[in-house]
Amino acid sequence: MNLLILGSGGREHALTWKLAQSKKVSRIFIAPGNAGTSVSGTNLNVDPGNFTEVKKAVLENRIDIVIVGPEAPLVDGIHDFFLADPDIRNIPVIGPDKSAARLEGSKDFAKEFLTRNNIPTASYRSFDKETAGEVHSFLKTLSPPYVIKADGLAAGKGVLIIENLEEAEEEVKSILNGKFGKAGNKVVIEEFLKGIELSVFIITDGRTYKLLPEAKDYKRVGEGDTGLNTGGMGAVSPVPFADNKFMDKVRQRIIDPTMEGLAKENITYKGFIFFGLINVKGDPYVIEYNARLGDPESEVVIPRIKSDMFELIEGVAKGDLHIRTVEFDDRVATTVMAVSGGYPGEYVKGKVVTGLNNVAGSVVFHAGTSKKTDEVITSGGRVLAVTSWGKSIKEALAFSYHNLSFINFEGMYFRNDIGFDL
Ligand code: AMP
Ligand code: GLY
Repeated sequence: MNLLILGSGGREHALTWKLAQSKKVSRIFIAPGNAGTSVSGTNLNVDPGNFTEVKKAVLENRIDIVIVGPEAPLVDGIHDFFLADPDIRNIPVIGPDKSAARLEGSKDFAKEFLTRNNIPTASYRSFDKETAGEVHSFLKTLSPPYVIKADGLAAGKGVLIIENLEEAEEEVKSILNGKFGKAGNKVVIEEFLKGIELSVFIITDGRTYKLLPEAKDYKRVGEGDTGLNTGGMGAVSPVPFADNKFMDKVRQRIIDPTMEGLAKENITYKGFIFFGLINVKGDPYVIEYNARLGDPESEVVIPRIKSDMFELIEGVAKGDLHIRTVEFDDRVATTVMAVSGGYPGEYVKGKVVTGLNNVAGSVVFHAGTSKKTDEVITSGGRVLAVTSWGKSIKEALAFSYHNLSFINFEGMYFRNDIGFDL
């Protein structure tokens, strides 16, 4: 089997690393990939958002299955593009079609779906330009802080949490007036939930699903969960509070009703579903759905899959996921992200990364790197995710931090306190 993985981050490197270990997989191509993916696969200079280019790459390289890493091509309809083209119709795309990807692509759709299906989530109301006049009176029914979300994809910047009512109202207006472009044609305002977050993943062929290991992501740039939001500074799996009792609630109250809701609404979902959950006094609530795996969660979730992950991919491709099995590694996995100085604000790219060959006992997943002759250079804000296994969170983290001490690039920064709250 030849696979094409779309994307260029740590998630895509983790997928490449894992799937390259499968006996059933011959070649892996990654578009566009990074310096790390080029070790176990072949990078293609193709933009995942250019579906015609993707098609060309699929035909030229005799691809059997396409796996979509990031959300944008899914929300833009890459799955539908394949189904509509006789040349590539039979090549399975792992990732939902446009209608199913609305779970991530439209917060308003997701909230309506959650509400219709009685799935626990924060209470909310959506507004557009026509109903903007009612924002003030709705905000007054909530207690601060106010959670304000642009409806569409806004590169991770579309969620604002604001203490002051007047400021919140101003923000809603500026989003409706185009602050995030079309993504802000609608705004969701919701109740603030207090609790600790975790990420739960399933893979589904549209009929049955397999639960994957859960993870906790550390989103803030600063230690002690302070400072600006990032794409994620590190992750841990398993999550200690996600015990059997809690995960039973997640299955019964959230995953099963989501699957039933999709079936009832004739939405055939093929791919990964990422449930962004919050634990409020022992009860799980949905903060958001994503139509893909998380990053950096993938860099701990995938390393905890002990069995052949291609079985799951093939199960979705063939629609026989129910006969496939998945086995987890009991050990803890942790990952610590090394980022460019200044991230998530402005930062400089093109810094030479040294010391990668000195790493032992951890796996380094590349997130934002490229190759320049024989050197690895930085090409993004999040640069490397150093993943390790251990008997405990503490033991796994000790390996990650030890190996990080060998790695260097100018301006390199990482959080020293991943897992501090667990
Ligand atoms: P989202 O992009 O929807 O995941 O939101 C980004 C972040 O905002 C989440 O990871 C949470 O930390 C926070 N957040 C979103 N919705 C809520 C909510 N209703 N209550 C508390 N925090 C929230
Ligand atoms: N780490 C959060 C995400 O992938 O959205």
